[in-house]
Amino acid sequence: MNWENVMPGLALPMRDLDRAVAASDPLDAARDAPRLPALNRAADIAGLTALAREWTSRAEGAVRDPVTAGAALRDLGFALASLERHGVDYRTLPGAEELLLKLGAVTEEVPRDSVYTYALRNPETAPRSFTELPEEELFIREVRTAGVALRPAVDALTEALPAAVHDPSLPGLLAEATAGFTVFAQSLLSVKRTITPRTFSYEMRPYFPPMTVGGQVLYAPGGAQMTPLLVDVALLRPEPGDPREEWYEGYLRENLPYLPAAYRDAADAARRHRPLLPRLVEEAGRHSPGTPAVVRTLTELRRLTQELLRFRLPHVQLAKANMAIRPDGSLGSGGYTTDSLDRLAELTLARHRLLTDACAAAGGGEER
Ligand code: HEM
Repeated sequence: MNWENVMPGLALPMRDLDRAVAASDPLDAARDAPRLPALNRAADIAGLTALAREWTSRAEGAVRDPVTAGAALRDLGFALASLERHGVDYRTLPGAEELLLKLGAVTEEVPRDSVYTYALRNPETAPRSFTELPEEELFIREVRTAGVALRPAVDALTEALPAAVHDPSLPGLLAEATAGFTVFAQSLLSVKRTITPRTFSYEMRPYFPPMTVGGQVLYAPGGAQMTPLLVDVALLRPEPGDPREEWYEGYLRENLPYLPAAYRDAADAARRHRPLLPRLVEEAGRHSPGTPAVVRTLTELRRLTQELLRFRLPHVQLAKANMAIRPDGSLGSGGYTTDSLDRLAELTLARHRLLTDACAAAGGGEER
């Protein structure tokens, strides 16, 4: 392939990019992908290797732009992570690592599969799956639903960043973000109700191995790559002087690179502003108690943090239930223990408490 002619950086809105990649099949993988779960069940390394070789060779000439490159990363991701799960270093496959690096350069994303390729860009009509288990199908569907619901939430919070506490547009923007998190929390609950820790930890999690690409360890698709990261950045990240800041900045450094370019840009834009929640609380303190516009904003802000907690608290429980049946020291697919989840939950709870006090002082924000 003449990679010089492949254009990086196609600036599509996230929704259109995800849809276009989901609809794209440059490796003609839809034809062979239904065989993948059976190969995995049989731990058929020769069959998996042949499939991965075939898809690697089809990339030649078929990848033309970021959309086709993204689809190739998705399908190769399924094949190569399957090999890794069965103990084969994917780098022994001629040309595979080089191809991943080239595809990553075209998409301007991490050169492997991500939560975006696994769920949001996994075609609904011909879904790719490691296991074909109904639980995995549900997992992909719910992670997609949750990710799609948060796209407008990210846009709304980005728009809210410069607004003053009494700005009449703020309550609506915050309500939009809350609506996204309501869906996110429901998706998590659906997974929690349906997928037992045993099925997730032993049947599914092994297909999310870390992989070394170009000398760098890259983590598999996982929740830390999802947009709650951006919501935290925009809304409640620790500020300088906060003892939580050092850990949080490290968490961001490790996870932001897994986000698509448009979301990395959104994070950069958000970081040029103070986080909304502590700033708005501070501004509210300068208004007389009972100022209607201020009360409305704080009330919506409080609903949003409540919804965040409605995701985070059960999610921590779910992650802990999974870790409890795994060997000591096991990590999530993003490379973390549940410590990171405790820290994020604690940060969210602390911000929620700050807001509850501010609501009481402002004379609004009903208890729920
Ligand atoms: C059995 C299912 C699940 C388990 C065991 C699990 C476990 C974990 C773990 C251990 C982390 C820490 C980062 C890492 O090492 O990967 C994490 C992060 C995360 N997960 Fe999950 N998770 C599950 C399902 C889900 C679902 C269905 C969603 C979304 C609907 C989700 C969203 C997130 C998010 C957003 C994070 C980043 C931390 C945060 O914002 O609180 N997870 N998960």
